[in-house]
Amino acid sequence: MATTLITNIGELFTSDPEGASTVEDAALVIEGSTIAWVGSAAGAPAADEMVDAGGRAVIPGFVDSHSHLVFAGDRAQEFAARMTGTPYAAGGIRTTVAATRAATDEQLTSHVARLVAEMRRQGTTTIEIKSGYGLTVHDEARSLAVARQFTEETTFLGAHVVPEGDPGEYVDLVTGPMLDAAKEHARWIDVFCERGAFDVDQARAILDAGAAAGLRGRLHANQLTYGGGVRLAAELGLVAVDHCTYLADEDVAALRDSGTIATLLPGVEFSTKQPYPDARRLLDAGVRVALASDCNPGSCFTSSVPLCIALAVREMGMSPAEALHAATYVGAAALDHDDVGVLAPGKRADLVLLDAPSHVHLAYRPGVPLVLGTWVGGRPT
Ligand code: NIG
Ligand code: FE
Repeated sequence: MATTLITNIGELFTSDPEGASTVEDAALVIEGSTIAWVGSAAGAPAADEMVDAGGRAVIPGFVDSHSHLVFAGDRAQEFAARMTGTPYAAGGIRTTVAATRAATDEQLTSHVARLVAEMRRQGTTTIEIKSGYGLTVHDEARSLAVARQFTEETTFLGAHVVPEGDPGEYVDLVTGPMLDAAKEHARWIDVFCERGAFDVDQARAILDAGAAAGLRGRLHANQLTYGGGVRLAAELGLVAVDHCTYLADEDVAALRDSGTIATLLPGVEFSTKQPYPDARRLLDAGVRVALASDCNPGSCFTSSVPLCIALAVREMGMSPAEALHAATYVGAAALDHDDVGVLAPGKRADLVLLDAPSHVHLAYRPGVPLVLGTWVGGRPT
């Protein structure tokens, strides 16, 4: 199999299971789709091809474990109103539902393709995509079928909001015919557990039905208010619970005890003017923290993981190394993967060459496009 040596790496950020870890004056060998060797440049083996990193940093590709890319329409006016004082509310989702139902499959597919390409340009190499803007049997199934063209990490979010009619009947639809139609296209099931969306009992019923259909659970919880969502995720032993903005001490303790990953989405707080979640409090309590974009047309229309890293460092008490680890290794763990988000022999060769000498520049140079090159499965893109 063809081998590529990337050498003269000023700083290699390997993002190990134990935490952030760097090697200076490093090299890395790719063989086919995987990493074959990592170490000091002076001791690197020969390879078929050589890439000179010129003293720049190499990091794992970002693992964005939370996005809502299947939608149509735009809510720029809602964003503008928020910036001058209108609060964010879950109900805005229905605006996007109407636009998504009216779009053709081709329109949805080309829109997702555009957003996935935008993510790639910014260094994201693994993407989770949710449904949740169809909210009929047909529109949820086709949203997931569209998402599956781009990733295996697809999530059924029929329980995003009650689109119309009686909430009890809608939960019956989600746990019955909609789940039946969705399950072949999805790996995960998610619920927006929040005031104005679904309560803890409804979330439990939907996650139980999903589990019975073979889907793994994840949850949107404690985004806008305190509540029982995070504790439900911990009780069910979910791999991750996302948002975690409003946490009581007992929520933090439950996350620590269950090992459920708290996925923080600071682009949301940026775009809704809510307080940022307290990553430091979670890390100090021994909770695992992931970072993801939550790219969606309502609460957060950024696809930029580097922006999320910069916000986490500036506003949430994370060091640059903790934030990058959270957006790579822990993001992968939040999708139950250990083959990406880490640069070590045997792992998938998903990596990014930064136009900067160190990972710190991701936060130190906010808003600057620092991604110079990306390899996905060993292939330069
Ligand atoms: O993750 N929280 C629920 N869903 C999205 C927002 C969806 C929308 O406003 O369109 C989120 O923030
Ligand atoms: Fe979300």
